Amino acid sequence: MTSSEIREQFLDFFKKKHHKIVPSSPVVPYNDPTLLFTNAGMNQFKDVFIGTGTREYKRAADTQKCIRVSGKHNDLEEVGYDTYHHTFFEMLGNWSFGDYYKKEAISWAWELLTDVWKLPKERLWATVYNTDVEALDFWKTETDIKHSHILKFGEKDNFWEMGETGPCGPCSEIHINLSDDIENPKYVNAGLPECIEIWNLVFIQNFRDTDGKLLNLPSKHVDTGMGFERVCAVLQKKTSNYDTDVFSPLINLIVDLSKVQYDSEKNKIPMRVIADHIRTLTFAIGDGAVPGNDGRGYVLRRILRRAARYGRKINLLNPFLYKLVPVLVKTMGDVFPEIKEKQEYIEKIIRSEEESFNITLDRGIELFDKIANDLQKQNKNIIPGDDVFKLYDTYGFPIDLTNIMAKERGLSIDEIKFNILMQEQRQKGRIATKEKSVAVNLNIDDLRSFDLIDGFCEFTGYDELQSDSKIIGLKKEEGRDLVILNKTPFYVEAGGQIDDLGDFIIQGNKLNVLDLIKIEDKTIHVIDNENKISYSTGIEIVAEVDRKRRWEIMRNHSATHFMHAAMRKILGTHVQQAGSYVGPDRLRFDFAHFVKLSESEILDIESLVNEKLLENIPLQHHRNVPFEQAKKMGALMFFGDKYGDKVNVVQFGDFSMEFCGGTHVHNSSEIGLFKIISESSIASGVRRIEAVTGFGIEKYLNHQLNNLREQDEKYQKLLDENKHLEKKISAFKLQSKLVELNSIISNPSVLNEINIYKGKVNAENMGEFMSLGEELRNKITHGIGTLISEIDGKASILTVVTDDLIKERKLNAGKIVGELAKLVDGKGGGRPHLATAGGKNLARLNDVLINNEDIIIKFV
Ligand code: ALA
Repeated sequence: MTSSEIREQFLDFFKKKHHKIVPSSPVVPYNDPTLLFTNAGMNQFKDVFIGTGTREYKRAADTQKCIRVSGKHNDLEEVGYDTYHHTFFEMLGNWSFGDYYKKEAISWAWELLTDVWKLPKERLWATVYNTDVEALDFWKTETDIKHSHILKFGEKDNFWEMGETGPCGPCSEIHINLSDDIENPKYVNAGLPECIEIWNLVFIQNFRDTDGKLLNLPSKHVDTGMGFERVCAVLQKKTSNYDTDVFSPLINLIVDLSKVQYDSEKNKIPMRVIADHIRTLTFAIGDGAVPGNDGRGYVLRRILRRAARYGRKINLLNPFLYKLVPVLVKTMGDVFPEIKEKQEYIEKIIRSEEESFNITLDRGIELFDKIANDLQKQNKNIIPGDDVFKLYDTYGFPIDLTNIMAKERGLSIDEIKFNILMQEQRQKGRIATKEKSVAVNLNIDDLRSFDLIDGFCEFTGYDELQSDSKIIGLKKEEGRDLVILNKTPFYVEAGGQIDDLGDFIIQGNKLNVLDLIKIEDKTIHVIDNENKISYSTGIEIVAEVDRKRRWEIMRNHSATHFMHAAMRKILGTHVQQAGSYVGPDRLRFDFAHFVKLSESEILDIESLVNEKLLENIPLQHHRNVPFEQAKKMGALMFFGDKYGDKVNVVQFGDFSMEFCGGTHVHNSSEIGLFKIISESSIASGVRRIEAVTGFGIEKYLNHQLNNLREQDEKYQKLLDENKHLEKKISAFKLQSKLVELNSIISNPSVLNEINIYKGKVNAENMGEFMSLGEELRNKITHGIGTLISEIDGKASILTVVTDDLIKERKLNAGKIVGELAKLVDGKGGGRPHLATAGGKNLARLNDVLINNEDIIIKFV
């Protein structure tokens, strides 16, 4: 049986039992700060279990993509070292929402395993929570399992919890013992590969609160999870999940790439780790996560670096992980088309991450080996925190990678010192970010300390910015009150759009709304009540959002949709949102794209957006549309969009249609104008655009104009300074040229009792040439002077005659220079005392000086 058939048979089985088959939710969870990655099939139904959400069906089944690398459910350390733990796996699950319970869950599980799949009953074991007599009895009455194969365990094994807080309950697990010792109960829960858990049936009836207290939920539910890869191994009679058709195409390709056989444990461990990690990377990136420096992004980076380093163990020296993506897409892309659609993007992200780590990886390994060798020589076995930190800081080795490498050599690491160093670095680098002055942390259980009356909390902020509301929940604290209303126009930060601000009018007093917190479907308004105005639950008040600010936010939010649509048209449909911020001042949009946007692309996006804005396109706001219907309408969906719910779709004509819970303008023309103010890169393959609209444009223009004005003033000042300097420079240059003149002046020859001065100067222009001529004339007595210079590529000649010679001998500089000019094929003339001439024949310029006296003699 192939893995695809196994998956299908599971879903078919529950379909026949009237379950709605739903899609897997993304591995990047929507709006759940308690989770970095989806870690169980039930995550998408958490709201149903705790009673804040509903579905149109009471039974569901699916195959859910899960990642377990952090938090309560973390299998990272086992991966590769055993054959059945994974960071990424599929969880086959069936659910009852307040419908069937233990009896059906147990008997159907048994039916599928033993009737449909014909697993050997004598190898199956069931465990129940030690106080769960009901489940124990159902195993006896509803199945034909050997009674000696039903075992009781405590909280650790048979009480399942989603996380530190959240829905939970007793569970019953099914294990299969594939060893020869099939009657030995000690195999169950012993962590042996021969006897593994394959299915967990959880009876969700409790909620763990932040104080660790266990509360009862209003209804009882069933939540089951079967390890798909494990069940494939059992049904395909393999002893390792990696030998099933789920993994073998990956393992085969790794064998091909590395030219190392999948034979010894030494080779198998790295190959398993790589095959496992590439699945986590591919699916997480496909669902919108990006490797980075913190949170979810750092988990991915760590996984990638671990995989890269395991590659070194099987001689994979160059980036190779990205080469595994196509084969994974081939095996799983039909079931999870998102990885097919984003294949190219996923490959690029992985490749560029690999490339950047590759630069330091080998040097880091070298340093590690040196540290480890030195320690072992000294008979020490703990790697000092400073070294671990250096590997982290300089070579990019995540601490868990250094830890594995240490373990491989029988060493450990000084984690405490490492943490101190990390702390110091953080403090050094901490930018004084303004904390929310009121920062209130609330949890669902805190609602119990409110003075509450019945009522829903309706969001009215799509249609009005001021509501006449009733207080239905109140908690007074020092200087501030926490208030819940039956109707609120206040939007709580979600999908990038930030919190509204505004006021409450309570019995004629205006109180400031400082902060908003959303707990499930309730908006808690934190209001400033320094003056201790007294009021109580049940009274009518007016809640008013800061209008101007909200309008700016709406403009920016709607413009984000226009921009997104324009980018998909101009840059391509690979552009997908990776994050956004929508505030009153500007909008920010992070998206997957590999190259810097060119000036012309930015202009094209801007003008397409502006063209559309001016088309006066009205908003079509489709509210509470079933998810599937919204998808059929063709609305753009992003990672994090929640499956199985009613959603809102925001549409502007045929230009843009997106899933979106935010608030928007009623008509595109209300946005005014749109302008991109920056474009940058924030991670490999992820770019960021910032833009403004509405009054933001006015501010931006004024700011730019002010800048221009300031620049202009500076420019004028520079021009003046420049002129001044130029003058100074010419004076200075002239000065130095006058020194040259002196040698001409002090060295005359005599012709017919007339002093003859001649020489070459370096005049920059005619003005300077004339100044030099004047200077010469002033300094000589009873003589004729001739200067030559090259000016603007021309042969230039200047002649001066002293006053006495003009008078006594009627000499004329103009005539003399005219004769001289003939030598350079030129003409010239001027007044008797000073005249200039120019000629084209630069090559003969020096002949002017050589023939000077021969020509002058004709005049004297
Ligand atoms: N939610 C249960 C689990 O993850 C089924 O094991």
